[in-house]
Amino acid sequence: MNINTMLKMPSGHSIPALGYGVYQTPAGEAEDVVLHAFKSGYRHVDSARVYRNEQPCADAIRKSGIPRGEIFLTSKVPPRSMGYDATKAAIQSSFSQTGLDYIDLYLVHAPYGGPQNRRGTWRALVEAQQAGKIRSIGVSNYGVHHLNELEGYIKELETQNGAGKGGEISVGQWELHPWLARPDIVVWCKERGIVIEAYCPIVRGQRFGEPSLQKLVKAHGKTPAQVLLRWSLQKGFVPLPKSVTHSRIVENADVYDFELSQSDMQALETTEYSPVSWDPTVDRD
Ligand SMILES: NC(=O)c1ccc[n+]([C@@H]2O[C@H](COP(=O)([O-])OP(=O)(O)OC[C@H]3O[C@@H](n4cnc5c(N)ncnc54)[C@H](OP(=O)(O)O)[C@@H]3O)[C@@H](O)[C@H]2O)c1
Repeated sequence: MNINTMLKMPSGHSIPALGYGVYQTPAGEAEDVVLHAFKSGYRHVDSARVYRNEQPCADAIRKSGIPRGEIFLTSKVPPRSMGYDATKAAIQSSFSQTGLDYIDLYLVHAPYGGPQNRRGTWRALVEAQQAGKIRSIGVSNYGVHHLNELEGYIKELETQNGAGKGGEISVGQWELHPWLARPDIVVWCKERGIVIEAYCPIVRGQRFGEPSLQKLVKAHGKTPAQVLLRWSLQKGFVPLPKSVTHSRIVENADVYDFELSQSDMQALETTEYSPVSWDPTVDRD
């Protein structure tokens, strides 16, 4: 495993196993920090319409001098744009704002709006993928009940339109770390070869003092953030650490010179369910 490690998605495309998140990164700073992330070796940026920084991320891609095909950009359907027409408009806005020819991954940001709107949103994503504008599609913050609903809808679309015409869930993105390990969702995805992305992978710094973590910090001579990112990578997840601090951007990518043993990994396991962000997986609508 190294910073260039890629994972294969059900769409057939590949995704860099380490991402760089830009939630709460001000638009005025985003170009600079994304360029710094590229210089530090990251090739994968996780943005969203609601982050209001897709455009500076795209500017950084152009200014980096790195071939577009070597960079991976994600955006997401805003929770307020659920439903077929609103999602089509949101995707269109991503393209008009960024000026990009294609976007690597577009996710449903959250399972909001009820079953009909979720179906419409998925259909709009499938159409954009079939048109070649979006390479891979997936979901974020879906509970197992939402995932089952979507799987049923994909089968329905295939019955209507033919094999492969329902789209495939390439990626799922959730808050995931030792204090929120979501075993039910992880098993669901692993059984289907869906790539699992981990947001808040360093728990926004809120658990750095945990004794189990501190023990590994001392044993490996790495920082708490690095140990948590290594845990995530070794679980097979795609962690998306966010930082606007140049030194931390470098620190969070410097995770390939040590390895957690099986007992280290086990020492970090908990059965806690302690989100630090929102948690739409439990939404029953
Ligand atoms: N799909 C969703 O609903 C969803 C929800 C939340 C997040 N996400 C994605 O996941 C990404 C990461 O999540 P997140 O930003 O909420 O949490 P996070 O990456 O766990 O934590 C980010 C926070 O930790 C600080 N930090 C970063 N590296 C550090 C280090 N090495 N040492 C100490 N502190 C450090 C950052 O500060 P500075 O920036 O000041 O350095 C920032 O305050 C987001 O940017 C976004 O792309 C998705």
